[in-house]
Amino acid sequence: MIELKGRKIILGVTGGVAAYKAAELTRQMVKAGASVHVVLTEGGAHFVTPVTFQALSGHPVWTDLWDPRMGNNMAHIDLTRDADCIIVAPATADVMARLVQGRCDDLLTTLCLARDCSLLVAPAMNRQMWQHPATQRNVAQLVADGVTVLGPDAGEQACGEVGMGRMLEPEVLCEAVISHLENKRLAGRKVVLTAGPTFEAIDPVRGITNSSSGKMGYALARACAQAGAEVVLVSGPVAMPVPYGVERISVHSALAMRDAVMSVVDDADVFIGVAAVADYRPAEAAEHKIKKSGEVMQITLTPNPDILAEVAARPNPPFCVGFAAESRDLDTYAEGKRKNKRLPMVVGNLVQDGLGQDDNEVVIYDAAGRHPVPRAAKHNLARSIVKHLAELLAAR
Ligand code: PMT
Repeated sequence: MIELKGRKIILGVTGGVAAYKAAELTRQMVKAGASVHVVLTEGGAHFVTPVTFQALSGHPVWTDLWDPRMGNNMAHIDLTRDADCIIVAPATADVMARLVQGRCDDLLTTLCLARDCSLLVAPAMNRQMWQHPATQRNVAQLVADGVTVLGPDAGEQACGEVGMGRMLEPEVLCEAVISHLENKRLAGRKVVLTAGPTFEAIDPVRGITNSSSGKMGYALARACAQAGAEVVLVSGPVAMPVPYGVERISVHSALAMRDAVMSVVDDADVFIGVAAVADYRPAEAAEHKIKKSGEVMQITLTPNPDILAEVAARPNPPFCVGFAAESRDLDTYAEGKRKNKRLPMVVGNLVQDGLGQDDNEVVIYDAAGRHPVPRAAKHNLARSIVKHLAELLAAR
């Protein structure tokens, strides 16, 4: 994942025990391609030393408003001039109060006041401090001032109490930063997707399924959310975490997937069928586990509804995107599916190596022809697909 490639991010670390998680956040943002520059307050340095952040970020750490290392001695101005955003994590109750007041009593608050980039804060504090009316007033004021407040979460706290005030986990914060900086090409749009396999029961313990991992569908759901869409993901049985900012409805069978899609698709702008939906299901699932008899066993299969075709045939259909997994003649079959189901766009992929890979190469088919997308990680393919569909949607 290199979704922060070319981005410069200032990470402000203030004096809370969650400062140790800021080290992992630094690592995650660097791994995602960002150039991370850490500004540590005096309080933050009580919890984690500058050496840790310097080793993880590969850049000198800034702690002092009067640091002479910057040529013009104006770190508070120069550090943010080419930055894409500042994220303060953890943000104590004190730093939020000082940001609200526009105070400049250390390098971090001065930087925040002098910035010309966006500011995100991830509060972390004891639950009573979080609930205090003064903190709540400050949070409301920060939001009114255009600051993005991430979290906090509820749960067990370092002080032993339980409640709101835990800092969001580093991976969630990294996702939030990626999302924050992404082009909002699907802002105001609702996207419904299907992902994963379906499971068609034979009896209470057996069924027919396939090896779709859900990786492509989940990557697309994530990319749509990062592009600003409201996203509902109707997912077959897979072992994947719900992407940040996505609502998931979990189902097993094709019939349940169809019902779930129909319950949420009325006001959708886009429908994307990524799921490998079983074309057939056992005509009748046995009520009890079928016992071995030694005889040849026959299962009668009956066709499942075609969810994508049904959505595309609605009077005012959303922009429908189909997927086609083929082992040969991709152009013929994928373009055939696009025309038969009257879809504006189909994503075709060759799957000789089976499903479930982390990367793939695809061809996008639309009214203008075929558009190959070279082999890449599914996260990156998803971004290319979203860009393509957003352009077609805008031109509609
Ligand atoms: O999950 P991964 O391991 O990452 O793998 C991703 C994938 C290979 C499953 C995905 O990229 C893909 O190609 N999905 C479509 C699989 C396929 O070929 O489906 P199909 O040819 O049976 O159907 C064509 C389209 O109609 C698809 O958009 C499908 O979701 C939809 N469909 C099909 C049957 C059905 N009953 N209802 C449907 O909505």
